Amino acid sequence: MLRNEHNELLTRTGPDTPFGNMFRCYWIPALLAGELPANDCPPVRVKLLSERLIAFRDTEGRYGLMDEFCAHRGVSLWFGRNEECGLRCSYHGWKYDVTGQCVDMPNEPEHSAFAKKVKLKSYPLVERGGVLWTYMGPPEQQPPLPEYEFAMVPAAQSYTSKRLQECNWLQAMEGGIDSSHVSFLHRGDLHTDPLFKGSRGNQYNLGDLRPVFEVVESAGGLYIGARRNAEDGHYYWRITQWVMPSYTMIPPRGTHSVHGHFWIPIDDENCWAWSFDYHPTRHLTDAELAAMRAGKGIHAKVDGNFRPLANKDNDYLMDRAAQKAGRTYSGVEGFAMQDQSLQESMGPIIDRTKETLVSTDSGIIMARQRLLRAIKAFTDERVTPPGVSLEHQRVRSAAVVLPPDQPFKDAAREALIAQPGVAPASV
Ligand code: FES
Ligand SMILES: [Fe+2]
Repeated sequence: MLRNEHNELLTRTGPDTPFGNMFRCYWIPALLAGELPANDCPPVRVKLLSERLIAFRDTEGRYGLMDEFCAHRGVSLWFGRNEECGLRCSYHGWKYDVTGQCVDMPNEPEHSAFAKKVKLKSYPLVERGGVLWTYMGPPEQQPPLPEYEFAMVPAAQSYTSKRLQECNWLQAMEGGIDSSHVSFLHRGDLHTDPLFKGSRGNQYNLGDLRPVFEVVESAGGLYIGARRNAEDGHYYWRITQWVMPSYTMIPPRGTHSVHGHFWIPIDDENCWAWSFDYHPTRHLTDAELAAMRAGKGIHAKVDGNFRPLANKDNDYLMDRAAQKAGRTYSGVEGFAMQDQSLQESMGPIIDRTKETLVSTDSGIIMARQRLLRAIKAFTDERVTPPGVSLEHQRVRSAAVVLPPDQPFKDAAREALIAQPGVAPASV
């Protein structure tokens, strides 16, 4: 369980909250590049860390992310005209460039210089790896662009999707580092999902339901090792990476692509579940890409607003017959919606004073402690939090079989670092 004041600290990320300030130290994914597909295309509403923003791409291809509302009388610029290097408010024609600077005020006297004095709050928006990233902190502390491996490999090796999750970011993220639920909630899909099936690791996963967890601090967050029995007294280790604040990498399976998530707060009761799949040394196949687009693996089928088609309004298309027959464990189809349905069922923000945590929750417990420590150091002394440094981002998850006397962190040291052109350590 967690004290209520700590739960509040960890779940509130709006402007001027302690964690909100720290979250604004990082580059975070804001949009898929495909959401702004062409110069002068329609603007897109974006809500991040409880701030309502508008994103657009101007006539020259520059990206802008700024306050959604016109400085004049507060109209949403979503109705605006994206033309001639700026977004023009539909009410009285004020026009803003990608930096939020007002560049035209056509309802003012012709020689008025007042437009120069009006600037909307704006943030950088930069494409890397098919994602538009933003940084919402103080400009003078802006770190270099992120270098998570999925965003650095050639485009043909990577696929990214996002889905709306209707709960606080932390309970979603905690699912991403809770490796013990896989043997239960996802057991039906390990055999059948085209992006997971067929690996030796799956047999270890299903054959040992009581993994022993060993959690070790990494420079940027945690290595979460889950140990299961393999043959001849050896151990099968699944090592999840968590990089602060909310990047998680699931250990790979066989020769499949590797994957993971970003959990980004929209506001305190909703988040974006970003899901990436990539292979460090090969192109994704047409069959893999088709499966990802069809919502297999960790991806989901979504509508035009990225809300999953299976959602709380239709009970996630619960199929009791499939549950009874063992085709799915919970009756919900697909890894992503199995996780999301249960995490949303906790309520918008789970009351962590009422939990009953056990040894397999040690990754979650340590992640909370690490976050609380970092928030305190940042709030009291402006200490740059773990995960901002590029070195902390150049990491990988791994799945390995090791002799019983080898500590996973040492034996898998090389495998836990992203090395261009080197295949992942996977079983
Ligand atoms: S409200 Fe935007 S120009 Fe008047
Ligand atoms: Fe899961």
